[in-house]
Amino acid sequence: MTRPLTFAIPKGRILDEALPMLARAGIEPEAEFHDKKSRALRFATNRPDISIIRVRAFDVATFVAHGAAQIGIVGSDVVEEFDYSELYAPVDLDIGHCRLSIAEPVGVSDEDEAAMSHVRVATKYPYLTRRYYEARGIQAECVKLNGAMELAPSLGLSRRIVDLVSSGATLKANGLVETHVIMPVSARLIVNRAAFKMRSADLTPLVEAFRKAVGGKDAA
Ligand code: PRP
Repeated sequence: MTRPLTFAIPKGRILDEALPMLARAGIEPEAEFHDKKSRALRFATNRPDISIIRVRAFDVATFVAHGAAQIGIVGSDVVEEFDYSELYAPVDLDIGHCRLSIAEPVGVSDEDEAAMSHVRVATKYPYLTRRYYEARGIQAECVKLNGAMELAPSLGLSRRIVDLVSSGATLKANGLVETHVIMPVSARLIVNRAAFKMRSADLTPLVEAFRKAVGGKDAA
């Protein structure tokens, strides 16, 4: 038998929606996966040829881009931020919907974007932030944070943030308001391009199973 495939899935909010999608595609993790107290990071599944690793969303892209995992699920925000040429993203899974947005403190949005030449932004997404502002002739100085971006304006780190917004509750709770949407986001199935060629017999049916699982989502 060839080596089992490693499937990378993200911790956090995509996980709740990803599990039913995995089940529809015929993959069920072992019981320990659902045990919140377990410190394990790698899990067997009902399929002897597939094991699952549970990692941070940005790390899903890194594991798959380097071929350490052959397949994974991650938000389109992460796929676009890294822009790895080794990643193939064949299926929009139509889950994990949110948006990547700019936000700033309520009541200070008096600046005309057309008159600005420079902004300072706290974000986990420096590439997408710079790209957005560059297209408008504005130089973005990004302060890289890995979470809790919403604290930055009130503590004087930066006036603006770029972060994911879903319900908007986190912004509201921190006195911020969404001013621009940079891009809509949804979860994608990602595959390592080299693995897709070398292990096409294993990976092509899996990609097709996910395509079908997305199609059958509303009927389920
Ligand atoms: C995300 C994001 C925001 C929040 C937005 O964080 O970074 O903080 O969700 O959601 P809302 O608009 O529904 O309030 P998440 O909770 O996924 O954790 P993270 O900080 O680890 O990314």
